[in-house]
Amino acid sequence: MKEKLNLIKESALNAISAATDEKAIEEIRVSVLGKKGELTAILKQMGGLSPEERPIVGQLANKIRAEIEAAVDSAKKAFAAESENKKLKEEKIDITMPSKPAKVGKLHPLNTVLNDMIDIFQSMGFDVVDGPEVETDHYNFEALNVPQDHPARDMQDTFYLAENLLLRTQTSAAQIRTMETRKPPIKIICPGRVFRADEVDATHSPVFHQIEGLVVDKNITMCDLKGVLEQFAHEIYGPDTEVKFRPSFFPFTEPSVEVDVTCSECKGKGCRVCKGSGWIEILGAGMVHPRVLSACGIDPEEYSGFAFGIGLDRLTTTRYKISDIRLLFENDLRFLDQF
Ligand code: PHE
Repeated sequence: MKEKLNLIKESALNAISAATDEKAIEEIRVSVLGKKGELTAILKQMGGLSPEERPIVGQLANKIRAEIEAAVDSAKKAFAAESENKKLKEEKIDITMPSKPAKVGKLHPLNTVLNDMIDIFQSMGFDVVDGPEVETDHYNFEALNVPQDHPARDMQDTFYLAENLLLRTQTSAAQIRTMETRKPPIKIICPGRVFRADEVDATHSPVFHQIEGLVVDKNITMCDLKGVLEQFAHEIYGPDTEVKFRPSFFPFTEPSVEVDVTCSECKGKGCRVCKGSGWIEILGAGMVHPRVLSACGIDPEEYSGFAFGIGLDRLTTTRYKISDIRLLFENDLRFLDQF
């Protein structure tokens, strides 16, 4: 029996070293060590041995099994490493293959128009400032001369977050923040998102964009306001554009105006875009109310100023002939890709 065991061992080790792939090794393992393998068959016959012989043969069989197992293991590892190396050698990167085209992002049309407007105002000496979208009642209304029960609050349906906390309905809040932290001369614009609880349709959105402007210095008059806004309108719509100032009302400016420009679509003849009037309203403006100045610690006897608020969305939809304001907010790439 010992001889038989030694024979099995020898032939198994020989077969392993002669094997040419991992599959052959596995076949050898099964044929020797498997349930129906040669070594297993021998072990089954051990019952016929005498009690003295049994442990000796048992020990030898175990030793041989361990040796064969070790040989199988190391042969398998060697083949695995070999095939891994082969694979790595074959996997060369073909640098002559054409690459996938990279998708280039574009500016959102609102940003394109905003950047143009910032350029225009910066060229006139305005600083760009930023203000928070979540505002207190004080900055959005009270300090702008709109007390609790003022009817002007109805014009701006407000999203309240808490008793005194709201989403700003107008960038005018930035006027107050600026006047509290800077002393005149002040010359700033503040672009940003504003929020009103409006019904959504082709021309209304609960989120839209304004650009606030504020100039405060000695001897600032309505002429300065007209000059700056006319200059702006000519740069953005072209030098032939006519600009019309209509008397209006805002609680924080006195006097107040609304500014219309000749419709860029029909050049003032009247069309669908301007609803037949020939004019498009682009902004509200006025001379900063003395009460607003003094509430910010600026003496209205010494200083005066003007402010304006431009709607960015309308400017963008008319420039690009976009028929529905909602398209600006849906961010459908098929739409945005066109600009
Ligand atoms: N805040 C005003 C609005 O949203 C616009 C405005 C700004 C008017 C500054 C006058 C001065 O309607």
